[in-house]
Amino acid sequence: MSEIAKIQLGDKQYELPIITGSEDEKGIDISKLRALTNHVTLDIGFKNTGATKSAITYLDGENGILQYRGYPIEQLAEQSTFLEVAYLLINGDLPNKKELDYYTESIRHHTLVHEDMSRFFQAFPTGAHPMGILSTMVASLSTFYPESQDPNRAMADVELTITRLLAKLPTLAAMAHKYSLGQPLLYPKNSLNYIDNFLRMMFGLPVEEYEVDPVIADAMNKLLILHADHEQNCSASTVRIVGSSQANLYSSISAGVSALWGPLHGGANQAVIEMLESIRKDGGGMKKWIDKAKDKNDSFRLMGFGHRVYKNFDPRATIIKTACDNVLERLGIDDPILDLAKELEEVALKDQYFIDRKLFPNVDFYSGIIYKALGIPTEMFTVMFAIGRLPGWIAQWKEMVENNDPIGRPRQIYVGATRRDYVPMDKRS
Ligand code: SDX
Repeated sequence: MSEIAKIQLGDKQYELPIITGSEDEKGIDISKLRALTNHVTLDIGFKNTGATKSAITYLDGENGILQYRGYPIEQLAEQSTFLEVAYLLINGDLPNKKELDYYTESIRHHTLVHEDMSRFFQAFPTGAHPMGILSTMVASLSTFYPESQDPNRAMADVELTITRLLAKLPTLAAMAHKYSLGQPLLYPKNSLNYIDNFLRMMFGLPVEEYEVDPVIADAMNKLLILHADHEQNCSASTVRIVGSSQANLYSSISAGVSALWGPLHGGANQAVIEMLESIRKDGGGMKKWIDKAKDKNDSFRLMGFGHRVYKNFDPRATIIKTACDNVLERLGIDDPILDLAKELEEVALKDQYFIDRKLFPNVDFYSGIIYKALGIPTEMFTVMFAIGRLPGWIAQWKEMVENNDPIGRPRQIYVGATRRDYVPMDKRS
């Protein structure tokens, strides 16, 4: 017998079905609430509201569990590759060798972007933030492939669009980086794998061969896997709601890039490093900064701490923290920022304010330190997050389309002025 929730409104009682997920999560299905009761719910920030049913990623915030299509993130980070994880998220299962080889080859042959796109860069002001460039360039891909704008396009066309996005995002990211340095753009090289190709476009120069450091490539692979999806986070929800209007995939992903840019979301990895640098310049006294973070009258927050879902450790932060030590040691880098980060974590986790609010380091707290060690400039950190999150955004968009989810259109509780008549100018005070 299916479970029900009962609500009492005045002298009437209503019954609403309870839905149980495959990991025994419970939800009250309120899809008929307004028709039944003429009431809507109010949940600002959707802290208690499920927006959809999804089979892509499972999070257990209390126990620090993260699984992509049922596979634990710890195993994927250790044993898989980013493109294999992209296939898993987007298609639902791990590929066999033939499927992965075909997938890899398809992506490899779409890494170039239209030559006209390289002229876009001349139009951006010097010092343009690469996230602003990336969201613009991704949206403009829809103009180079107008067939992608057809909401009734065949799934084969969608697969080609997905391949183009996965293939071209690293190229566009590297172009933004090279443009910011005033260095010549490097074309992708089909003889290289996905990550080596990206590293060469980012750090290579036309005047010499670029040697990929396996330590850096391995760290990059792990970081991209750890960022690949995170169920209905702010940017994934943005991609879904934009896509729910039947906007094309490029526009939906561009909207996701914009949402990710915010310092409360993916922009936090840049904000963490800037925060740690400020603390270091200020002499490194932790107490002053912890007190600022706790002071309601101070807008300062401990960037990289806290999470809407994880009320225990963020399993990604745990993996990245270990990778931090390994990467810095193997690259022979002694970065005082890492020591500062560890000290800040130690002090914060002993502070009652953080304990009471279950504020732990999240994925962004340590990732910037590795990116810095890999030679990625701070302003490119969130671009790295976007490259990692792209398969997740695509998977969420595809699931929304395949499930035929309706256009997203939340309700509200109106609290503004009640009806009043227009006042002619000469009657106004
Ligand atoms: C990501 O959703 C996802 O899955 C996101 C992500 C993904 O993979 O997609 O995991 C990636 O975005 C990670 C989060 C990166 N952002 C930051 O590190 C920015 C700093 N963190 C906070 O701004 C905050 O913790 C959020 C935005 C992450 C979560 O905010 P919530 O869930 O809305 O929580 P809240 O703001 O209501 O905070 C609850 C309490 C408040 O205090 P009280 O009003 O109860 O007294 O905790 C406090 C907050 O003031 N608080 C913090 C804090 N985070 C929350 N206080 C100081 N420093 C912080 N970092």
